[in-house]
Amino acid sequence: MNPLKIFMTFDRRIWLFGFALIVAASFGVSAARASDAGLAQTPPMGWNSWNCFHLDISDEIIRAEAAALVKSGMKNAGYEYVVIDGGWEGWHDTNGVFHSDPKKFPDMKALCDYVHSLGLKIGIHTSPGPTTCAGHEASYGHEKQDAETFAQWGIDFVKYDWCSGDKVYRPDQMQEVYKFFSDDLKATGRPILYSLCQYGIQDVWKWGASVGGQMWRTTGDISDNYDSVMLHGLAQNGLEKYAGSGHWNDPDMLEIGNGKLNEDECRAQMSLWCLLAAPLFAGNDLTQMRPNMLAILTNPEAIAIDQDPAGVQGHCARQEGPTEIWTKSLAGGSTAIGIFNLNPHPMTITADFRQLDLPRTVQIRDLWRHQDLGKFHKTFTVTLPRHGSVLLKVARN
Ligand code: GAL
Repeated sequence: MNPLKIFMTFDRRIWLFGFALIVAASFGVSAARASDAGLAQTPPMGWNSWNCFHLDISDEIIRAEAAALVKSGMKNAGYEYVVIDGGWEGWHDTNGVFHSDPKKFPDMKALCDYVHSLGLKIGIHTSPGPTTCAGHEASYGHEKQDAETFAQWGIDFVKYDWCSGDKVYRPDQMQEVYKFFSDDLKATGRPILYSLCQYGIQDVWKWGASVGGQMWRTTGDISDNYDSVMLHGLAQNGLEKYAGSGHWNDPDMLEIGNGKLNEDECRAQMSLWCLLAAPLFAGNDLTQMRPNMLAILTNPEAIAIDQDPAGVQGHCARQEGPTEIWTKSLAGGSTAIGIFNLNPHPMTITADFRQLDLPRTVQIRDLWRHQDLGKFHKTFTVTLPRHGSVLLKVARN
């Protein structure tokens, strides 16, 4: 065989081999994308232990809350993840394996199995620093092994909370620290939703998705009072372009049912979070929930706004002193509108359709009263109590 022919054959084989590699790789890539793509297509929903229990959590409490999530009807309404926040940690043993605190969580795998048996998913909290914010052991130096341990337990969601990260990393390392752990989670082969928590430092909304996050906290911790709740929610204005299917701004968990917000204030948080396409994580004790709080958390018409398949985060379209009108475009061409009275007294507020980019005549439905209000021309006027809100669905005629 002449040398040129040998070269051609060899050359063709290389091409074939290369082609096969490209096909295999693109299958691999699309498989990886497919598993990513399944996560958080709409804003994640669930329950998190922190707002109500803080560090006082246990296997027994998590089981009871998971069972209550099902029994109350919240699971049917879409709440899916049961997240164990800070307070579960024990220590890393001499082989580097992370153990839960045996007194509070004797068997993490059994707990995950139980939560899965209810048709729910389970999440956990750790930090890239050496300790959590409460000073318990965290994942620094054990990241890969911890990701594997979580996957072996059956964890479906990790909240990675910066906490003591500053003690071991420079600020300019933060993004790669978050990216490395995302890679560690992906390497386990288990689809694990990755929730970034670093309080919005370095405009996390600009890079959260590129380091593998499905959601990222944009603020510090929320607390159980109206001012804190509204401050967290309203501060999301302007961040709407960074949210979308698979990656969401997270203004922190719900305080509904924790005792300090009255019904109007609870409805205001729910309305605003739904307009924001925010992750919906209840933070109250579900075993002691009053029916009015359950009704707010499970309002199917509000949840449908949050979970709308278009995945648009709403924005503030009109602000006049302490009254705000928010709009969110929905799949199919309708618009959700929220009107908020932040005043400590009742207010009559008029929404002008022109200012909200709406046609002259629209059909309006009240999503808290579950009532069609009929046709409106040019404006819609409502009187709201102190801290009250309405959530409306507006259809073009
Ligand atoms: C904070 C975080 C809270 C909660 C707490 C646990 O940093 O923002 O949501 O996770 O740590 O210690």
